[in-house]
Amino acid sequence: MKKPTKIVRAGVDKKRNAGVVNTPVVRASTIVFDSVAAMHDSYAHTKKRDKVLSYGRRGTATHWTLQEALTDLAGGADTVLTPSGLSACTLAILGCVKAGDHILVSDSAYEPTRTFCEGFLKDMGVDTSYFDPLIGGGIADLLRDNTTLVFCESPGSHTFEVQDIPAIAAAARARGAKVAVDNTWASPLFCRPLALGAHLSVEAATKYIVGHSDVMLGAVTGTDEAIADVYKAASALGFATSPDDVYLATRGLRTLGVRLKQHQENAWTVAKWLQEQPQVKRVLYPPLPSDPGHALWKRDFTGGSGLMGVVFHQASAKAMAALIDGMKLFALGFSWGGYESLIAPSTPLRSARPWTEPMPGVRLHVGLEDTDDLIADLADGLVRFKAALD
Ligand SMILES: Cc1ncc(COP(=O)(O)O)c(C=O)c1O
Repeated sequence: MKKPTKIVRAGVDKKRNAGVVNTPVVRASTIVFDSVAAMHDSYAHTKKRDKVLSYGRRGTATHWTLQEALTDLAGGADTVLTPSGLSACTLAILGCVKAGDHILVSDSAYEPTRTFCEGFLKDMGVDTSYFDPLIGGGIADLLRDNTTLVFCESPGSHTFEVQDIPAIAAAARARGAKVAVDNTWASPLFCRPLALGAHLSVEAATKYIVGHSDVMLGAVTGTDEAIADVYKAASALGFATSPDDVYLATRGLRTLGVRLKQHQENAWTVAKWLQEQPQVKRVLYPPLPSDPGHALWKRDFTGGSGLMGVVFHQASAKAMAALIDGMKLFALGFSWGGYESLIAPSTPLRSARPWTEPMPGVRLHVGLEDTDDLIADLADGLVRFKAALD
């Protein structure tokens, strides 16, 4: 089946749902059993990740529907749901390490992922080093005997470098290390990291999968060899997700195809317009042919989402604030991936490959509004930006 069909149909089990189109919200903590043998049997099944009822924390039919749909879309063996996108990143890492190990993290990674590595993970006895997101197969030189994971984010959600996942995965696999990719920008609709050689594909489902800015959720989909340890870590840590949230995420997923198509179209129009504005030095958006990551994007992705960066010729905190503070449609907020347009300051944090563009820039999430209105909002903002620079 093609992806748009999977988005609509995957995970639907007519028998399980008794004909109801959307798997209902099945709320549970306690599940009661007819016998001790049945209780033991259900627990043994959940240990093997079988989708059977045993205890609310281990999921109900509401969870299985989303897990199965995401697994199918990403082309994996199974999916573990987590309470947020960040916890999906940290769980994927925790599923691949033990004290004394070393991991490599892309310099373009989401800042809280870095914070986790530098604090919690370090205290656990796991070392992190950062690598140039453009390193490709050169990652081979950075792999140590105790490197167990290469964590990528492609494109990076502030700097938008596209990583050569097949080259990184080939080098990592040759040394027995796993590869995890934060795939939130593309969603499983536009990129399938597992098909590119990664072991784990991480989604902040909070963004495009939920799509309506009203739920926090994460998902880790993996190959058979990798997902078992992620599931073990989730079980040990007691991760659980609310069936109400999961229901909303599944409902969001069903329209991911049409939403992303429109995000892509709108983002393209806005990016092309921004490129022509005299204040703008670069628009960081891999679908643009002028973007340095365009060739890799074209090879590995089937579309572009609504998130992009804008770098100005001359940066100033005052001018950036003047631009953002007067916006009428682009709201100022941390997240992205909902139906609405958002804007936020962007000052990438780097350590392996310095970010040499003028800072601060801004990050735009282009929503589903009419692009004439969005461009008019940005045009007014650039007038304020220029006035604040002079
Ligand atoms: C690329 C990326 N990964 C992970 C996350 C974390 O997701 P959440 O906010 O659901 O914890 C974010 C959030 O902005 C993100 O941009």
